[in-house]
Amino acid sequence: MERRIVKTQVGIVGAGPAGLMLSHLLYTSGIDSTVVESRSHETIRTTQRAGILEHGSVNMLVDSGASDRVLREGHRHDGIELRFDGRNHRIDFLDLVGESVWLYPQNEVFTDLAEARHRTGGDVRYSSSDSSVLDLETDTPKIHFTDVDGQPWEVHCDVVVGSDGSGGICKKSIPAEHRKDYFIQYPFAWFGILAEAPPSAPELIYAHSDRGFALISQRTDKIQRMYFQCDPNEDASTWTEEMIWEELQSRMGGQDGFHLKTGRIFEQMVLPFRSYVCEPMRYGNLFLAGDASHTVPPTGAKGLNLALADVKVLHEGLDSYFNSKNSELLDAYSDRALQRVWKAQNFSYWMTSMLHQHPDGSEFEKKRQLGELSSVVSSRAGSSYLAEAYTGWPLK
Ligand code: DHB
Repeated sequence: MERRIVKTQVGIVGAGPAGLMLSHLLYTSGIDSTVVESRSHETIRTTQRAGILEHGSVNMLVDSGASDRVLREGHRHDGIELRFDGRNHRIDFLDLVGESVWLYPQNEVFTDLAEARHRTGGDVRYSSSDSSVLDLETDTPKIHFTDVDGQPWEVHCDVVVGSDGSGGICKKSIPAEHRKDYFIQYPFAWFGILAEAPPSAPELIYAHSDRGFALISQRTDKIQRMYFQCDPNEDASTWTEEMIWEELQSRMGGQDGFHLKTGRIFEQMVLPFRSYVCEPMRYGNLFLAGDASHTVPPTGAKGLNLALADVKVLHEGLDSYFNSKNSELLDAYSDRALQRVWKAQNFSYWMTSMLHQHPDGSEFEKKRQLGELSSVVSSRAGSSYLAEAYTGWPLK
């Protein structure tokens, strides 16, 4: 079949929250885009990801007109609990830095952005296959793909944006000598569950225990999300409901008699865990955003927020490039975005290493971790960095 051609200003690979938010923001600036996505709308909508939005991410959704549902259906959280030595220690974000976060799962963010693009006539090609990016060093980069009906297409554009996640094609199309990969592996992963149960606590609890880390999060009044540290090679399917609740409860026990509210578990999976950055976030006329150029471990829920922060900076660059014929901000994109990326890398690494048990950690290391946690919760100076980083640095 002959390749059909679509002409646009920005060709976006990946219709996750980063790709769709960028496409939506470009629309508000009068810039045309086409989004190519290999997964179906339904697959993305039902894939479980993290649930916490920084106030800056919420503002982006609301101010751009993409979603006000986040304010109606999301839950504002003014703090978290750090749990160690068998009791909770509250980090009061509102008091410490005057900001909050919102519990609003990534699937809902996707639903709102997909609906916003649909409402405004956006060109989003779900369920496409055989995607590739070409001529990235030229002024006419292209995306090839085959649509859901088997029709091959060529997207002619001025700029390609790779927002196609950690396993995407865009980063891989940058020649190795033009990029540097930074990464570390961790000797653990997360076991995540969704359960039909009432909330066990009004806010999130990040727990350090002798048996390893656990996180008590929520979804709705009737559905809860929880995680616990496990071996990266753990097979989630071998765990019975009883084993999972016992493991979670053993990490949450303590002198305060805290008890989890349990119920039917209807999803259980092991989540990968690593820190990764690809620099620079640009090659020729290809720009990377979100997980396509960096991954953080999940502790602290920075992944989605960081992707949206990239998009904000990239949108400013593209707006100035197309609407004012000025490439200065676009040329500064990678450096500007990477400043926040490395701050978030540090925060996610710090939260992870403070709260998880290293499989061959020494007795000294365990005691030192407790000293670190104690330093964080026992003074305003100690807590303020956590509050500032968790709620999100200002989006300039
Ligand atoms: C959730 C995930 C996280 O990684 C986190 O730090 C907080 C909450 C969640 O899925 O609810």
